[in-house]
Amino acid sequence: MPGKFMNRKAFCIFNLTLCVFAKPVDASNPAKVLLSHGNASVEIYLFGATVTSWKVGGVEKIFLSKKAHLDGSKAIRGGIPLVFPHFGTIPTSTLPQHGFARVSTWSRLDPPSETETATSVAFTLSPRAVPAALAAKWPHAFRLTYTVTLTTDTLTTTLKVENTADVAWEFTSLLHTYFATRGVAHVGVKGLEGASFVDKVAEGAPRAVESRTAVIVAGEVDRVYEGVDDKAEVTVTGTGHGDVVVHRTNLPDVVVWNPWTDKAKAMADFGDDEFDNMICVEAGSVAKFISLQPGETWTGGQTLKTA
Ligand code: BG6
Repeated sequence: MPGKFMNRKAFCIFNLTLCVFAKPVDASNPAKVLLSHGNASVEIYLFGATVTSWKVGGVEKIFLSKKAHLDGSKAIRGGIPLVFPHFGTIPTSTLPQHGFARVSTWSRLDPPSETETATSVAFTLSPRAVPAALAAKWPHAFRLTYTVTLTTDTLTTTLKVENTADVAWEFTSLLHTYFATRGVAHVGVKGLEGASFVDKVAEGAPRAVESRTAVIVAGEVDRVYEGVDDKAEVTVTGTGHGDVVVHRTNLPDVVVWNPWTDKAKAMADFGDDEFDNMICVEAGSVAKFISLQPGETWTGGQTLKTA
């Protein structure tokens, strides 16, 4: 609302502490949406609706690979790629790993909305915007709405999935958040003690129960923690970029991933040494398929909060 926006600018002149300023589009790059609120900011590419930066007080919280493709030719390596309609690869689908949401170009809905406490913007995706070859592999009618909300100390990303078909279908989904680190050996992911997990690195992908108060990285890590109580806060500590608490809503599973040295070298869009600069802590609903009846919706999301 331009009128409201002008009023807020005028308000900011008198009260800098509550100053809110939203720049919906980066003039130099129309494929990217920028929001700021107080001293926090977020960048979101329309490609994949991928958040690629979240800064609080000038400190970057999110990892983006120096080799990431930002031209829509490949899923963005870093940020918060959106996984839909399935996590990983599954025997019943020929879609690529993690589905098509992260490689489709989303549309921004209304202009960002601003209040004194938050700035928010939403994106939508439906089948006609999915690359045709991928849409053909998952021929279901759907509408996704992804809302990104920024406050001075939080970033909330919420996905709404609607079944617009006349038959039921099922899916899994995940927010594949890459946190920036200065030396991943210093990082601890707290809040997963007692959770059952699948270890995707170990031979045969065995199940075990996490016994540590903090998950650490001292080699390749790829674990799917299942059914972690929504109320359990997961905290990413020791990143060198400030601790972040992950609050989850309707996302019971948490994936912790670091490719370590060999897999880093094998990824063309990831620097050989960048395994040291990131850890993925991914809130999702991936252990069981979610079934949606015609007309039904499902909503899941996370709030990242500076600690
Ligand atoms: C994680 C998976 O979520 O994503 C890993 O658990 C995978 O197995 C990683 O390697 C990265 O996936 P991609 O497709 O972005 O290389």
